[in-house]
Amino acid sequence: MKAAFYTLGCKVNQTETEALAGIFRAGGYDIVPFEERADVYVINTCTVTNMGDRKSRQVIRRAGKANPEGTVVVMGCYAQVAPEEVSRIPGVDLVVGTRDRGRILELVEKARDGAEPVNMVREAWQGAVFEELPLLETESRVRATLKIQEGCNQFCTYCIIPYARGPVRSRDPEKAMEEAARLMAAGYKEIVLTGIHTGAYGLDLGLDLNYLVSRLAGLPGLKRLRLSSVESTEFTPGLIGTIAANPVVCPHLHIPLQSGSDRILARMNRPYSRREFERIVKELRGKIPDLAITTDIIVGFPGEDEADHRDSLEFAAQMEFANIHVFKYSPRTGTPAAGYTPQVAPGEKEARSREFINLARRGWQDYASRYLGRSMEVLVEQDVAQNQWEGHTATYLRVRFPAKGDLRGELVRARLEDLADDFVRGQLEIISSLKG
Ligand code: 5AD
Repeated sequence: MKAAFYTLGCKVNQTETEALAGIFRAGGYDIVPFEERADVYVINTCTVTNMGDRKSRQVIRRAGKANPEGTVVVMGCYAQVAPEEVSRIPGVDLVVGTRDRGRILELVEKARDGAEPVNMVREAWQGAVFEELPLLETESRVRATLKIQEGCNQFCTYCIIPYARGPVRSRDPEKAMEEAARLMAAGYKEIVLTGIHTGAYGLDLGLDLNYLVSRLAGLPGLKRLRLSSVESTEFTPGLIGTIAANPVVCPHLHIPLQSGSDRILARMNRPYSRREFERIVKELRGKIPDLAITTDIIVGFPGEDEADHRDSLEFAAQMEFANIHVFKYSPRTGTPAAGYTPQVAPGEKEARSREFINLARRGWQDYASRYLGRSMEVLVEQDVAQNQWEGHTATYLRVRFPAKGDLRGELVRARLEDLADDFVRGQLEIISSLKG
């Protein structure tokens, strides 16, 4: 039997798809590319914006056509939020949301024989616990993601994710440590902590993110530990201290700002002001040398006028972000802000988005240029062409350099020489072998 996977959206989805692929493999399936004929197609969907829904539907239809006899499984956030809509898409056999994914093989068996699509979606909030989906993958790559947390209690007024993922629940720290140790043993060099609201780790266990980060940072053999998104309000003195004191914790933080206008932040139900955001960024930069900070911005939130947009742009420029992920506000049915007035015209959103994308680009160039002429540590991930290797610095700057031999998984030093579009060209200086 063959199974094929398609992942839309975020890093959590990618990690979950990998875990599921492991379950299928352990169940005797061969995993094949999504374009090939398979017996089971699993589509892990996204619903964060309307675009996510639309793309999810396209891929689902494509799978249904690729093999009309095949079993099409739709899972993830879009499936969770709109199970009936998904069931009606031609070809769909099984709908699983953001729960019960560990039972996938059994559910596929059940769905295979039925004429009607099977809808297994359960309410997201009722009695939800952290579902252990260990990575069974043993194939070694260089960077692994470790999912430590599920769900969100924040209810930002624009965001559907709490409805799709349910409440905050955290992975048992012992389980997280075990998985991290397994990943290290499989040869991974870098671990990226992921979750839906990673900074809320431990809320349900009487612990906090600092507790887990401190423990993981002490894992023997771990070269890099990267935090993904953490909210500005979640940097406790303890967490800042841990990041500053542990060289394995990467000086790279993604801190979502969403807007630089206090009026809009309040309407978004974001629990901070720009002054508070600024204060934490200053503190972080004061304590963590060479820190790279990236962010998310939403343009065109309902009621955002030209002055709010200017505020936002000006504040984001001041914050000197190393990169900005720009989102055009998308009215999600089921969220409060979808009903707010006035909605911003599409052309206006487009124009504001372009301004932010330009700022993001200048920010990246300013940040990347600071490293030119310097020798930086690069964890080599892959060869992109013959004798051309690529990896990232701890600050997540992508570096490409020429070298012979197999450097995958090596920690090297490279002198950074010039900027390309979205990476930096360098020359190899030293290889400190990690292999063997
Ligand atoms: N419209 C646009 N962007 C959104 N995001 C979340 N909800 C919406 C929405 N309705 C963005 C936020 C978040 C990122 C993952 O997605 O910026 O940080």
